[in-house]
Amino acid sequence: MHPNFSQSSLLISLILFLLSHHFPCSLCLDDFHYSNCTSPLEFECGHELGNIEYPFWVYGHQAEYCGHPLFKLYCEGGEHAIIEIKSRKYKVLYINPESQILQIVTMDVLPKEHIVCPQSPLMDSTPFNYTPYVEMAAVTLTNCSIDDHPGAYHFSCTMNNRLHEAYLATNLSVAKELRSRCKYGVIISKFPVLLPELEGLLNGSSYDVEEVLREGFEVQWTADNAICKECVRSGGTCGYDTTSNKSCCLCRDKPYPNKCSSMYPSAFLFSSFLCWFF
Ligand SMILES: *[C@@H]1O[C@H](CO)[C@@H](O)[C@H](O)[C@H]1NC(C)=O
Ligand SMILES: *[C@@H]1O[C@H](CO)[C@@H](O)[C@H](O)[C@H]1NC(C)=O
Ligand SMILES: *[C@@H]1O[C@H](CO)[C@@H](O)[C@H](O)[C@H]1NC(C)=O
Ligand SMILES: *[C@@H]1O[C@H](CO)[C@@H](O)[C@H](O)[C@H]1NC(C)=O
Ligand SMILES: *[C@@H]1O[C@H](CO)[C@@H](O)[C@H](O)[C@H]1NC(C)=O
Repeated sequence: MHPNFSQSSLLISLILFLLSHHFPCSLCLDDFHYSNCTSPLEFECGHELGNIEYPFWVYGHQAEYCGHPLFKLYCEGGEHAIIEIKSRKYKVLYINPESQILQIVTMDVLPKEHIVCPQSPLMDSTPFNYTPYVEMAAVTLTNCSIDDHPGAYHFSCTMNNRLHEAYLATNLSVAKELRSRCKYGVIISKFPVLLPELEGLLNGSSYDVEEVLREGFEVQWTADNAICKECVRSGGTCGYDTTSNKSCCLCRDKPYPNKCSSMYPSAFLFSSFLCWFF
């Protein structure tokens, strides 16, 4: 047989073979950043949090380039899914990727014999903003007890190993008035609670303040949404470049700053060929 003919028929059969078996080849070909971050991750930690997508990533289960560093989640003690915001820990109760809403609660108020007196969360200069579903209440900590006061709801909490009488107040003026009734008092001025929970206290359908606190509050996040959408449209998945500290687009061939290269499909076939050949 003519050597040229056998070579080209070999080539043709290889191409036919490749076209019918492109699946294994795409595995040997995809950039590991892309393949590491596109495998779906169902996150369960005490409760089900659904499929984790960018900007979130789960420490210990995913590479850090799969998500934004400010959206790192981890599982503590097998029961609390944690996100840290300005170095404070919050338990994640719920993630809604469509509306980009996160329901979180400060670790202080989670079930214990006595809850720790809660601090105001710090959300300034973070990607997180309170939703309209959140109402700012105030908390007064005192060491004397106060008779029933309209717009204030009593609970107890510990601070510096001391038990305090605490009052969740519907607004700052109520909190200040309570403070004025005791020798000692501290006001935590901005304490976020869910509006329906607060309404439940106000209209008397709920009495358990600790339960209201444990429902936490909602924040909406922003994280390079426009760039990320463009990346996904180009066939990539959003990621984070840990050397330049910027979000990037992870594509089948390699990571790009914004979106995948449209040149790639031809490069893909060619390298598929090489990949099978060698
Ligand atoms: C990412 O992929 C590389 C190469 O396939 C692998 O060695 C590594 O363990 C993966 N990392 C994670 C966190 O899955
Ligand atoms: C609490 O009240 C007592 C007197 O009722 C007072 O001596 C004490 O300093 C107050 N403050 C604290 C932080 O305990
Ligand atoms: C604060 O709340 C109390 C009790 O709910 C209410 O009577 C009062 O009008 C409120 N004050 C302000 C300034 O909103
Ligand atoms: C009290 O408020 C809650 C939350 O808004 C609402 O679901 C509930 O129906 C209200 N109950 C009464 C008795 O008005
Ligand atoms: C990226 O962040 C890391 C850790 O915060 C820092 O050490 C590094 O210098 C940063 N790199 C750039 C290019 O900003």
